[in-house]
This record gives sequence, C-alpha cells and structure tokens, in this order.
Amino acid sequence: MPVLLLTGLAWLPGAAQTRPIPNPQLASKEINSRVEALLRKMTLEEKVGQLAQYSVGNATGPGGSNLKYDDLAAKGSVGSMLNVVSAETSNRYQHIAVEKSRLHIPILFGQDVIHGHRTTFPVPLALAASWDPGTAETAARFGAVEARADGIRWVFSPMVDIARDPRWGRIVESAGEDPYLGSAMARAWVKGYQQDDLSKPDSVAVSVKHFAAYGAAIAGRDYNAVDISEILLRQVYLEPYRAAVEAGAATLMSSFNSINGVPATANPFIMTQILRKEWGFDGFVVSDWAAISELRDHSIGDDATVARKALEAGVDMDMEGNLYGNVIAPQVREGKIPESVVDEAVRRILRVKFALGLFEDPYTEVGPAYEPTQERRAAARKVAEETFVLLKNDPVEGVGTLLPLTAKARKVALIGPMADNQREMLGAWSVTGDPKFAVTLKTALAERLGDRLLYAEGCGLLSGEDANVLKRVYDPAAGDQLPIPDDAKTIAEAVETARKADVAILALGEPTDWMEGEAGSRTQLGFTGAQQQLLEAVVATGKPVILVLLAGRPLELKWAAAHVPAILEAWSPGIEAGHAVSDVLFGDTNPSGKLPASFPRAVGQEPLYYAQLPTGRPAHGDLSHMPRNSEEKFLSRYVDEENSALFPFGWGLSYTRFSYSQPTVSRAEIPAKEVVASGHTAVTTIGVDVKNTGSVAGTEVVQLYIRNTAASVSQPVRELKGFARVTLAPGEQKHVEFPLGFDELNFYNAEIKRTVEPTTYNIWVGGSSLASAETSLTLVE
Ligand code: NOJ
Repeated sequence: MPVLLLTGLAWLPGAAQTRPIPNPQLASKEINSRVEALLRKMTLEEKVGQLAQYSVGNATGPGGSNLKYDDLAAKGSVGSMLNVVSAETSNRYQHIAVEKSRLHIPILFGQDVIHGHRTTFPVPLALAASWDPGTAETAARFGAVEARADGIRWVFSPMVDIARDPRWGRIVESAGEDPYLGSAMARAWVKGYQQDDLSKPDSVAVSVKHFAAYGAAIAGRDYNAVDISEILLRQVYLEPYRAAVEAGAATLMSSFNSINGVPATANPFIMTQILRKEWGFDGFVVSDWAAISELRDHSIGDDATVARKALEAGVDMDMEGNLYGNVIAPQVREGKIPESVVDEAVRRILRVKFALGLFEDPYTEVGPAYEPTQERRAAARKVAEETFVLLKNDPVEGVGTLLPLTAKARKVALIGPMADNQREMLGAWSVTGDPKFAVTLKTALAERLGDRLLYAEGCGLLSGEDANVLKRVYDPAAGDQLPIPDDAKTIAEAVETARKADVAILALGEPTDWMEGEAGSRTQLGFTGAQQQLLEAVVATGKPVILVLLAGRPLELKWAAAHVPAILEAWSPGIEAGHAVSDVLFGDTNPSGKLPASFPRAVGQEPLYYAQLPTGRPAHGDLSHMPRNSEEKFLSRYVDEENSALFPFGWGLSYTRFSYSQPTVSRAEIPAKEVVASGHTAVTTIGVDVKNTGSVAGTEVVQLYIRNTAASVSQPVRELKGFARVTLAPGEQKHVEFPLGFDELNFYNAEIKRTVEPTTYNIWVGGSSLASAETSLTLVE
C-alpha cells in the first residue's frame, strides 16, 4: 500500500506550497528595519536589559524580586514588567524608561488577563463548553479594552494546554481535552485580543501558554514531568498552539514541565525546530515565572549554564527569574554565548514592541475608575448562559421534569455554600476581578422570587478546621480564634429549609482559591467539606432536588447522578453568575452547552478522554453484563467500574429535543493522492438534517466525529472534526454541512509526517461523542 508522505514542513500538504506568514506585521520590512537600526545602537547591557522581565506588584508566583525598578528602568535594564495594573503606575515607570534611558525604549507591560480583566467572564473551560468560539472572542475583546485602560499591552492568555486529567487544577484555564475544539477556541482568543492588528488602540498582544504539553503532567500533579510520544505531542497537544501561531499570536510562554526529559524552557526541539523552523513564528517567547532559574532544580546545570541553555533554545525573555540580567552578558564577553544569540532574542522582543505601536504611543490616558456598566454586565450574562451544560433532567414522579422551573414551584429553597459566595462566582485566575461586583444566585433568585425564596448555607466549602485555615490564608484579618464551623447543625437547618419548600436548589462546588487553578491538583474529585453529606441529607427529605454545580473542573458525581433528577453544570460563571443561572433555571434561556471534558465515574479512570487509542481487547457494553470467569474476562476494562465516562465529552441536554437524519456524503470514494494535493480545500462534504422535535426553541451543537479504520499508525476510536451551533424553532429543521479535507483527515505517521493513506473513515454526526447517525468515506489508492 503506497504511503503518501508529506515531504518538507508540516503546515501544508501538496506540491510547491509556500509557508504563509503567521503574523505579517512582525515580518514586515518596515518594522524589521526599525529593529535593525535600533539594535545597531545598543550596548550588550542594553540588549540584555530587553530580555529581563520583573514582577512589580502582587506576586503571582513564589518569591518575587524586590529591586530598584526606577534605577533599572533608567538604565534600560528592564524590557518588561508584569503585575503593574494601573495607568498611573505604568505611566510612571514608562516615563522613566522613555525619558531617562539612553535609547528611550519603552517597557512592555504584561498581565494575567485570563477570562476578562475587570469584567470577569466565565472561566476558559466554561467558555469552551459553549462550543462557540465567539464567547472567547467576546471575553478577549472586553479584556483587551479594559486591560489597555490599565496600561497593559500584553496579556498572558490564552492557555491552550490540552487537559485530559481533571486532577490537574489548571484544567479550568483550558479548553478541555480535545485538540479540534481547543484549536477553534485558541484562534478565537487570539483574534479577540489582537484583532489581526497589534497597532490598534484597543489591541493587546497575546502570550499563548504554556509551551508545551504542560497539561500532560504525569498523574495530574502540577509542574510534573511529561513523558509523551512525538506523535501524541504533535497530533494532540501541539495542535492548539499551531492554530494560535497561525492566527498570528505575537508571543508564547514556555512551560514549567520537562518533555521526555528535556525541560520545555530549555528545549531547542520545541522552541526552535517546531516553533520557529516549522511554524515560522516571528514573535518572542517569555519564560513562565522563574522557569529559567528553576532549570537548576531540573538538574541541568548551574545558573550560567541554565540561562545559556534557555536562551540558546529560544526562550527570549526571563520572567521574574533574575538570571538573564545577571549571567548572560559575562558569558557573551567570555565567548561562551555568541552575541548573535542575544541579538536574535532582542530582535524578536523589539519587533513586538514596534508592532504594538509602543514607541509612538507608550503611555496610557488616565480614565475614570472601572464600572461594571450595563453593557459589560449584559455581555458577561449572555456569554455565561451559553456555557451551562444541562447534565441531567429526568422526570420526577408526579412532577415531570424539574427544569425549567415554572410558577408551580411556590416556594424554592436555595441551599449550599456556593449560593451566596461572590468570590467563588469569579473563579480561578480572576486576579483583577472584584468579587463585590459578582451577582450571586441568592441575589438573583431573590429578585425573581421575593419571599418565595428560602435560603440556607448548609455548610462551608471546607469542613472544620480546614475552613479556618482557608480563611486565615485569604483573610489574615480574620485572626486565629475563629470558631470551628458546626456542619451537623447547619446541615440540619438546611434540611428544615428544604422541608418548607416545593423544590430545593443545591449550589455546590469546590473552593477556587484553595483547590483550583495553578498548584490546585487533587487526588479526589468529589465535593469538598461536608457538601456531599448536605446533598444526601436534602435528597433524603424527598423534596425534588436540582443540583447546580459551580466548579472549574469535572467532579466525580456518581452519587449525585444516581439520586438527583436535575443537574446543571454552571462552572465559575463570572460577575453575572446569579442572573445567568437563574435565566437558565427558569427557562428564559434554553441551555445549549456541551462538555469540553469527560466527567469520570471514578477518579481512578483518569486520565479519561473520549479519543482513546483502541486496544486489541475492547470492552463491549456494560460491566454488569460481563460474566466473570468466562471467556470474556480478558478485556481492557476495570473489574470494579465501567470504562465509559459518567457524562461524556460533547454531552449536554436541552429543554427541547433534536433528531438527526441519516448523514450523507457528497463523495464517498476519493483517491488519497487527491486529498494530499488539495491542501486546505475540502474534498467532500458530510450533510445532515437536524430537527427540533420539542416544543420550545433551542440551540444544538451538532458534532462530527471520524474514525480512521486502517492506518499505518493506530488512530483514536473517535476524533472530533467539525461542529456547528444551530438554533431551531419548535418543529424547525436545518441542513448542516461539514466540509472534510486533508486538514481533518490527516494524521502523523511513524516518520512524523502528516499524511493520509488509503483507508475507510467511519463518520458519525450527533449531539455528543456518543453520536450514532453514521456514514463513511473511503480513500482509495
Ligand atoms: C505562572 C503561571 O503558570 C502563568 O500562567 C502566569 O501567566 C505567570 N505565573 C504570571 O503570573
């Protein structure tokens, strides 16, 4: 069987294709001649100064320097600052750099703007659950405009790390487990921040992070090593980075982890070979916080050696590590590092500064204080409503489905530690968001229900003394003498509250600052504190229960899924949390989100993701149907749990129902050579009719999955290769088409070349990764 290899580089198949320039601004002649002219005037010290970035403000990592920043700025020894978050302060440092330093090079101010800046939008995992890249673009747009008002020209976003293990707390910052969805979100973030024009007065440069494969940390433990095959690295983990670079990303951030033994921050293979040579990236790479100095702890050398290795690998700027500023220049003088290596790093940084228009316009006009205006709130609310996933809505005897709630529910009991907690609504990495602007569920439901709303906190997010530790860490003013919360008493009160109501809404989750985001790895994925006991006690009253989840990761929900009739995943929804959840609970908005990550039955299944490689002994059906001690014993399965997810990737219900026709394929047999030659052009189209068969309007996320059934390298059992959000009135039907070409059908072969081979693809279209409407496509020789 002939194998059609792509010779040369991987961005395009077919003959004689020239590589597109990922960011034409950074490659422009005008900018590059300005860079060269400036570079010629720079001393070695001034060059090295551009490579240094310091945190001046609240530290967002361990340690934190405390240097004479005014002096450094005056000497031209600081290229960038982070954690300076106001027009006044950034202007102050900028005046020093521009007016006092010899060459007047402005400072680039960078900041963690993750899901909005002052206006907090839902966490990135939630935005991915909308399967609408427009939500990320909106969050990025608002974030960019508000960041610019604070003097920020560069954001440390988006995080495009594939996250297949929810033990890893940073899954909350990701778009979840899938490279196709992740790439679509990555492109939207870049577009929203940079608007294809860095020089616009409301654009900011992105820093796509954390390059690379940070999300594949062994056992989900943050910062842990990554051991990964090159095929998996390229086919899954690098894809969203490639998408972001092709969308014009101006900068990337290196990751903390090692990859197959070589730390990413000193890894020439990913930083130079893949990023620069293969993808043609012209921007710069900043290290993560102290990641260069931490290379010592990776045991790859002393200060001088690790700094040299990082710079030579292609990490251009040292975030808060203090190494480049101190140990690079002496090594250049000793001839250990060629000055051309320093020049190249400086070039890349200056290019971005010029492209941003920083030299022409280095200051920020001081404007009015931030206000969460109606426009901002409306945008945050609309986006949040798209992100909620209705996991379950089973009918209750004598009542029917609990959601949407109707006027029949006279009294509603709202219970749980997430019901009235403003901080928790903002979610992880909402550094510049202010909890006082967040609308809780209690506030929103009280607006809607008045005295028909009953409320009980039920318990804290952590139990007993743990809760006090949390309070002391985050609110030192609370002091040491806090009373230990009495969960039994507060649960009993909550049970009484539920008894007085027609329906109980439980708002449960996990504490953001304590357990999610960076350094928030967990070995258990259940509810924290006494929340599980609270849930069981309220369910035991016999009152109908609706569970609203407010958490930044897939939790283990086995008990809840078996005992609670209605479950809504609301993630960390941002400042309009309460209103958005209330709109969906009462049916003003029909939920349309779909899971961007699999929810496990048990934490022992992790890492659990739908696009697994097949085994030679696939398990069929349910464990309960598997006779033990029979010939079917020797299967790839757990002896104590199903293989499948409790709620699979792509899953999400609606208040209406959708039906799918048999999918059609416009060309069912195509020569493989033609697919290779066609480049980005589609070679066939899969069509399907989707109908709203229920009685209310709704939006369905139509998903297309493929399986390559006979490749030279074993391929996943399913892979997402298309999706579309379709809004349908009751009874309405729409035709949806998915173009397929090389981009969707290719895979990396054993020679690490993107290719297609003669094969048959099974193709499914439907509303989740369990989609069953099926067709096929054959590539012939
Ligand atoms: C460390 C985090 O890993 C990264 O995501 C963040 O941008 C930097 N600190 C700066 O705060």
